[in-house]
Amino acid sequence: MLTMSPWYLSWLLSLTSSALAASPADWRTQSIYFMLTDRFARADNSTTASCDASQGVYCGGTWQGIINHLDYIQNMGFTAIWITPVTEQLPQDTADGEAYHGYWQQDIYSINSNYGTADDLKSLASALHDRNMYLMVDVVTNHMGYAGAGDDVDYSVFNPFNSEDYFHSYCEITDYDNLTMVEQCWEGDTIVSLPDLDTESETVQTMWNDWITGLVSNYSIDGLRIDSVLEVQKDFWSGFESAAGVYCVGEVDNGDASLVCPYQDVMDGVLDYPMYYPLLRAFESSSGSISDLYNMINTVKSDCSDSTLLGTFVENHDNPRFASYTDDMSLAKNAATFTIMSDGIPIIYAGQEQHYSGSSVPSNREAVWLSGYDTTSELYQLIAQVNAVRNQAIYAADDYITYKVHSPQFPDLQVLISNKDQNYPIYQDDNTLAMRKGYDGSQTITILSNLGTSGSEYTLSLSGTGYDSETIVTEIFTCTNITVDGSGDVSVPMNGGEPRILYPSSKLSGSTLCS
Ligand SMILES: *[C@@H]1O[C@H](CO)[C@@H](O)[C@H](O)[C@H]1NC(C)=O
Ligand SMILES: *[C@@H]1O[C@H](CO)[C@@H](O)[C@H](O)[C@H]1NC(C)=O
Ligand SMILES: *[C@@H]1O[C@H](CO)[C@@H](O)[C@H](O)[C@H]1NC(C)=O
Ligand SMILES: *[C@@H]1O[C@H](CO)[C@@H](O)[C@H](O)[C@H]1NC(C)=O
Repeated sequence: MLTMSPWYLSWLLSLTSSALAASPADWRTQSIYFMLTDRFARADNSTTASCDASQGVYCGGTWQGIINHLDYIQNMGFTAIWITPVTEQLPQDTADGEAYHGYWQQDIYSINSNYGTADDLKSLASALHDRNMYLMVDVVTNHMGYAGAGDDVDYSVFNPFNSEDYFHSYCEITDYDNLTMVEQCWEGDTIVSLPDLDTESETVQTMWNDWITGLVSNYSIDGLRIDSVLEVQKDFWSGFESAAGVYCVGEVDNGDASLVCPYQDVMDGVLDYPMYYPLLRAFESSSGSISDLYNMINTVKSDCSDSTLLGTFVENHDNPRFASYTDDMSLAKNAATFTIMSDGIPIIYAGQEQHYSGSSVPSNREAVWLSGYDTTSELYQLIAQVNAVRNQAIYAADDYITYKVHSPQFPDLQVLISNKDQNYPIYQDDNTLAMRKGYDGSQTITILSNLGTSGSEYTLSLSGTGYDSETIVTEIFTCTNITVDGSGDVSVPMNGGEPRILYPSSKLSGSTLCS
């Protein structure tokens, strides 16, 4: 007879729970830390191993390195990580560098041995699940990668797409406004070409669908970030997403909400590029447009079918770091705070918490270990506080994230009937934006400023917070208690252009904030 130790039982339970695929509803409440596996942590825990991002070569980060540094991530309040693609890549060191980033795959059935073994990847998934955290993996279905010019490709190096028949015939994308061309022609350049799969072919679709079912199951993956979604025809995605069986968020690299949002009809979520541009512009200087950001909050909410399933970010590995536009710490704090407190699943790019300032690719892919994983840095501390208040608000009220105003006539109608649903702006002036999210005395009020560190001290009188008069709210960065006045207004002390977040004091108990 088999006897089970308590240790074995909990191990068995953790296996069961990790086998439950994470749905969109499970992901809404998460907060994601995104890293290039090659650049986050080395298995030897080195904080000095050199990594010159501008060289574009492997620096030695691994999945075991990530496992070793999960405290650093979790103590910042993150509940999930997104890692770059895990598949085997082209092996060459080309004039465009090496495939350290993972977007130049050749064999989708082998994993990239630079990051460790298949068992290491499985260990990463279980180390995350032991902490009740999720694993999101980046996948590419649009293309493979080949060291060579344009159409001069030896297809036999690819597994399983080992013949020209699986690919679109060669043409260059010369006009990104022509969607047919974007879908059917090839990305890449004359050094590394990106052979473009014929995703209209049912054979290719079946091969991708079989693969993703296996990948998700073999490595206990909880969600997918999907690369180059704009470059694959829309009707590919529903089948792929259902074969994956987990939440998918896609990259549609365009700032136009009317172009990006319709992809949410074929995929759970998309990266919120429409918000990215006005967010960056609003906070990159004190003359940035607050009203463009204010308006985009409402535009995204009305154009996208569910703004709570988008991925919200102000930095990633494809765009210059925020601090490459301005070194003002206060502006960086506001941009990070918006990312976490608005609608969508927050995504913070590794190194953002260390105020890294690399500009274009590849210099924006600095090794995080060179920061020494400094948990006392201002942005590390700020991100930890903002994630903590969001996590607390989610814990304290069931539909903090999804709250929608109900029409008095149709109390059961769960559709967007008002701009006052989910996160919505309640105030703007030339330098200030205030947003409300949540309901019934559990709401957060986030006040953002682009005045920068030299911003003066003043008191902002804020209406429309929805708090009852005499409620005591806590400003979570300064731990100041403020009593809501008789007309429901709140006097918020502002200083140095720093962000502010208000939350009812009585609901903070149990959190690490202001205790
Ligand atoms: C790296 O850090 C982890 C976690 O702190 C530790 O268990 C491991 O022994 C360290 N490895 C080395 C080579 O120092
Ligand atoms: C768009 O691209 C396709 C494929 O390359 C081409 O056949 C078509 O003529 C282009 N359309 C326009 C309007 O340029
Ligand atoms: C998943 O594991 C099965 C069984 O070992 C294997 O046949 C399949 O190729 C694997 N799929 C992937 C994507 O690793
Ligand atoms: C703020 O209010 C809470 C709840 O009423 C109270 O527990 C806490 O001590 C107050 N903090 C300060 C700094 O007054």
